[in-house]
Amino acid sequence: MKDIVRANFDASVDAYDAYERRTGRFTALARLLAAEMDSRGGSLDAVLDAGAGTGVSTRVFAEESTRTVALDISREMLREIESAPRVEGDFDHLPFADRSFDGVAFTASLFLVPDPAVAIREAARLLQPGGVVGAVAPLGWVTGDGTDVFADLERDSRSPTGAEEVEAALESEFAVTTGTWRFATTADDLRLFHSIPAMAARLYPKLSAEERVEKARDLLNSLEGTFEQRWRWIVGVTE
Ligand SMILES: C[S@@+](CC[C@H](N)C(=O)[O-])C[C@H]1O[C@@H](n2cnc3c(N)ncnc32)[C@H](O)[C@@H]1O
Repeated sequence: MKDIVRANFDASVDAYDAYERRTGRFTALARLLAAEMDSRGGSLDAVLDAGAGTGVSTRVFAEESTRTVALDISREMLREIESAPRVEGDFDHLPFADRSFDGVAFTASLFLVPDPAVAIREAARLLQPGGVVGAVAPLGWVTGDGTDVFADLERDSRSPTGAEEVEAALESEFAVTTGTWRFATTADDLRLFHSIPAMAARLYPKLSAEERVEKARDLLNSLEGTFEQRWRWIVGVTE
């Protein structure tokens, strides 16, 4: 599964950057997460940006800390980062010494692994006493009356987002605070999100990158108006 995730993101760099340029959504998520981590932890001098992607969240955490390290499993995503040291690696085997960070941030990344609890044990190992871990995971899109936008849309996969597993993983190691962020989103932005091959994979996991993006475009073509996009945030401090 991780090889598939890596390949999906390797093929997603341009579409990911296009979505971020238009919406600024991942920057907003990282800023909100950094604020929550900052208010609960001690100093955030050294931060691991776990699942750094093209560096959107890295730039935000670098503003808050004196040392930010960007780690990602996708070499192509990571290649875009110039603002911080880059490490190609997997959440389940973080190549750093015990107690080497004050914060570990998973901005829209931890829900992508089969077992978030393994990654969270690794994050706990890396943290200094009083350190803080943060994660953001998607809850999906709803219409004005609270209906899931995808409820009546036929697609190949109905896989859960993984937000519950992410929350449970943090709860197993940390004292946790959690909440939901809501963003007004247009149908065009929802289509742009699914023009990212790694995101279209949640609808059509077995198709090639080009085919799944095309099918997602067809599926979402008739959507109009605005929706609410929801993200769960979870912040844990060492007990
Ligand atoms: C949706 S992107 C978020 C990127 C960035 N945090 C941001 O805010 O723009 C998720 C990132 O997590 C990375 N990722 C997924 N599984 C991973 C794993 N097991 N180890 C390390 N990185 C992983 C992906 O390669 C991808 O770059």
